[in-house]
Amino acid sequence: MPHLSSRILSINGSGSDGWGVFYRARAMVAAGEMVTELTIGEHDIRTHPAILDAMHRAAQAGHTGYATIPGITALRDAVAARITRNTGIPTARENVLITPGGQSALFAAHMACCNPGETALYIDPYYATYPGTIRAAGAVPQAIATRAEDSFLPDYDRISDAALAHGAASLLVNTPNNPTGVVYPRSTLEDIAHAALDHDLWVISDEVYETQIWEGAHLSPRALPGMDQCTLVVGSMSKSHAMTGSRIGWIVAPEHVIEKLSDLATNTTYGVPGYIQDAAVFALAQGAALEEEVAAPFRRRRALAMSILEGQNVVGHIPSQGAMYLMLDIRSTGMTGEAFANALLDTHRIAVMPGESFGAAASGHIRLAMTVADDSFAVALQTLCSFAGMLIPSDFAPA
Ligand SMILES: Cc1ncc(COP(=O)(O)O)c(C=O)c1O
Repeated sequence: MPHLSSRILSINGSGSDGWGVFYRARAMVAAGEMVTELTIGEHDIRTHPAILDAMHRAAQAGHTGYATIPGITALRDAVAARITRNTGIPTARENVLITPGGQSALFAAHMACCNPGETALYIDPYYATYPGTIRAAGAVPQAIATRAEDSFLPDYDRISDAALAHGAASLLVNTPNNPTGVVYPRSTLEDIAHAALDHDLWVISDEVYETQIWEGAHLSPRALPGMDQCTLVVGSMSKSHAMTGSRIGWIVAPEHVIEKLSDLATNTTYGVPGYIQDAAVFALAQGAALEEEVAAPFRRRRALAMSILEGQNVVGHIPSQGAMYLMLDIRSTGMTGEAFANALLDTHRIAVMPGESFGAAASGHIRLAMTVADDSFAVALQTLCSFAGMLIPSDFAPA
């Protein structure tokens, strides 16, 4: 019998990944039970009808054949203009590769930056696919742990120590952050930039939540001095335009990197459907108003959540500054995130993600996706807080 490659067999790593509660919730829903699902990052609205009309028009007009590999000129130009406008760093179409979503961009970026067996760093807690993406690209994932007490922000020493210890080739960062909801401040991004320049690291900057900012401002590491030559920015229209199913995103990088990434795309994806790219051009041309319309439900629910959380002292939270998630600290209950999430599902039919599914650093936490209607979301969060209150040990002294 022929064997499967060790590369594909190792993508998922080993051990419990904390996703059991998610699959249990899905099974309950399939069995007809009512479950409030605050698990994955999928909007409760669909792609705007005007974007679908643009897609339909493009397909009817015949844009259903192979599209040019780096992406159609109009879309590469639109992305380049957007990045130039947002960062002040001159960006041309030659700096842009259109990809089928941010996920494939993350994979391609690691393929470009890491030799087989080289170490690729990422920050714990992390978006669940990161280690598997790195392994799929043939590199070795190495987490850099952060602490809840530091709002899960990395710093120069932690990055520098890991880069030195492992001779790392790349560092993957994500702001606004999934799962923590933190927007990296300038000082953290400067630490990242200094460590990258000191240790000759590529920075792969996942900015797929750039349009969901509740506090502060989004800053791309590519905008910092010297960083445009060593940063690959991963972007996507999944979250900004509720286009998760259209699979449309990009990489922005130095021109010579994009040339090589085009070779990879030629031999893997063979491009992105032309009618989807035309719809993306249309969507980007609608400007910030449409992006704010897509972000607005999360902005509202985040405000609701803050008022609920401020009225109690059992459940703590990591500063909620961006992205569609809340990271809650349930350590006062003495439970792991996984045990709490399972108990909440069993008792109240509310499904949340255990912090542990996003790395060891987030144990004792849970992540909520703010992806159900405002009233159901508020009821679920109030129920969660009361439930946590009933679980705290009698000797617990609130801070
Ligand atoms: C942090 C982060 N990066 C990348 C992605 C991938 O997004 P997509 O492939 O839909 O563009 C996601 C999706 O949830 C995410 O949360």
